[in-house]
Order: sequence, then C-alpha cells, then structure tokens
Amino acid sequence: MSRLTVNEHPVEFRMDPQTPLLWALRDAANLTGTKYGCGNGDCSACMVMVDGEALRSCLITLAESEGRFVTTIEGLSHDRSHPVQQAMVAEQAIQCGFCTPGIVIAAASLLARNSDPSDEEIRAAIPNLCRCGVYPRLVRAIRRAGRVMRREETISAAPAPGIAPEDAAQAVPALKPR
Ligand code: FES
Ligand code: FES
Repeated sequence: MSRLTVNEHPVEFRMDPQTPLLWALRDAANLTGTKYGCGNGDCSACMVMVDGEALRSCLITLAESEGRFVTTIEGLSHDRSHPVQQAMVAEQAIQCGFCTPGIVIAAASLLARNSDPSDEEIRAAIPNLCRCGVYPRLVRAIRRAGRVMRREETISAAPAPGIAPEDAAQAVPALKPR
C-alpha cells in the first residue's frame, strides 16, 4: 500500500508499489486529465507536480511517491482560473489539447519559482512535445501568465479575439479532463 496526498486529499493506493504513478492516477484514481503519451519520459504529456516540482509521472513509481504531495491538472484550480489556464485560452495556445495538461502543470511549476522567466528559461522548463505545434503561442501564453501573477495584467473572461461567443464555451472545456 502506498500513501500520498493527491490534490489535497490523502489517498491510499493498494497496488504494486512499482506501479508508475501515471497508472495509479489514471486507472485507480480516475484522474484522466494526466495523459499517457509515450511511457518513456520523452513527451511530458504525463507531467504532474510532486511537492511542487513538475515530474513525468510515467517515470516515477508509487513507492517513490510515498508521502509526497501530488497535484494533477484537476487539482491545479477548481474552475480553470489558474493564470496559466487563462493565458493558454486567451492566447489560443490549445489545438487538440492532448499535450495541454502536461504543459499547464510544467508552466505553473515554473512560474511558481520564477514569475518572470525569459523565453529561453521557458523553453528549458517546458520540454513537452506538441504534435500540433503550439510552441510560439505557448511561450506568449506563459509570459502573459507571468504578468498576471505579477499583477501587471488581468485576463478578461471574455472570448479571445477570433472566437465567436457561442464557441467560447467550447474553448474553455478543452482544458477539462478527458
Ligand atoms: S507519457 Fe510520460 S513522458 Fe511521455
Ligand atoms: S495541442 Fe495538440 S498535441 Fe499539443
């Protein structure tokens, strides 16, 4: 049995302690917002925060997670109001959305340590692969989220330019777990 805290709730996993954290979260805890991409540490789709650090959950076991505090995309905010989530939507840095949860987690971890990263620091901290190629928009979104966290800017809940009001509701649920 492995005991850890997931999204602020104490959880016991009665699974093989060598089970990757990714499978415990997805299959046992039903937290399917964390994605399985490669299973090899290459894509970062599976990133979660462990004690505030963005880690690939396919590479760490339940045993290695024992006693630690895990935050998944479902636990980052209850209403998708985290500045990174707001900025990703506002900058239209989401296409199919498969990579988005891992990117949001990595960006939130970066900005918690450094709310004014350079473009180079952003690229170094976000190793996530995106098959849709949102990288330029992603950098803009993370810099914008940093400005929000530094209280230099607020992001309106209004639809981003180019998104019809009736489609705006579709844009936000792209961040919901699938
Ligand atoms: S699924 Fe973990 S890095 Fe790709
Ligand atoms: S938005 Fe499609 S993989 Fe990144």
